[in-house]
Amino acid sequence: MPPTHDAPTAETPAGPTFSRRAVVAGAGAAAIGAGLLVAGCSAGSGSGSGSDGSGSSGGSASGALGPATDVPVGGAKIYGDQSVVVTQATAGTYAGFSTRCPHQGCNVNEVRGASIVCPCHGSTFALDGSVEKGPARTGLTAKAVTVDGGGRIVLG
Ligand code: FES
Repeated sequence: MPPTHDAPTAETPAGPTFSRRAVVAGAGAAAIGAGLLVAGCSAGSGSGSGSDGSGSSGGSASGALGPATDVPVGGAKIYGDQSVVVTQATAGTYAGFSTRCPHQGCNVNEVRGASIVCPCHGSTFALDGSVEKGPARTGLTAKAVTVDGGGRIVLG
């Protein structure tokens, strides 16, 4: 009876040696994998923002998002490059919000009528930024926007 219990103990010293090697090898592979993932994300977002940035460099130089006429009355327009969504609930009344969803940080990316939609879990927000439908529990974060003399939406 006790010998049965002792037998695994005698084998145990050899066991951890193999396990440790396996763990080290696994950790190395994981580190390499993580490096590739990070590099992949960096390259992806860098090239994405680079191409987007060049396309909107004229507007961002002056802080302008675009013509106010691009924002429909009773609707909204998403400026993905600047992470801003601008709404116009009634004619001439503009409001700006961060595109970052307060639920888990995805960016809202669609406007359906008078609703701003998060693609990740389906939260929707009204034109005043408040939650229409969860799982988000709080509304979008306000960002100040104004219309400049040239009729363009500008941040601030
Ligand atoms: S991150 Fe937007 S609904 Fe979950």
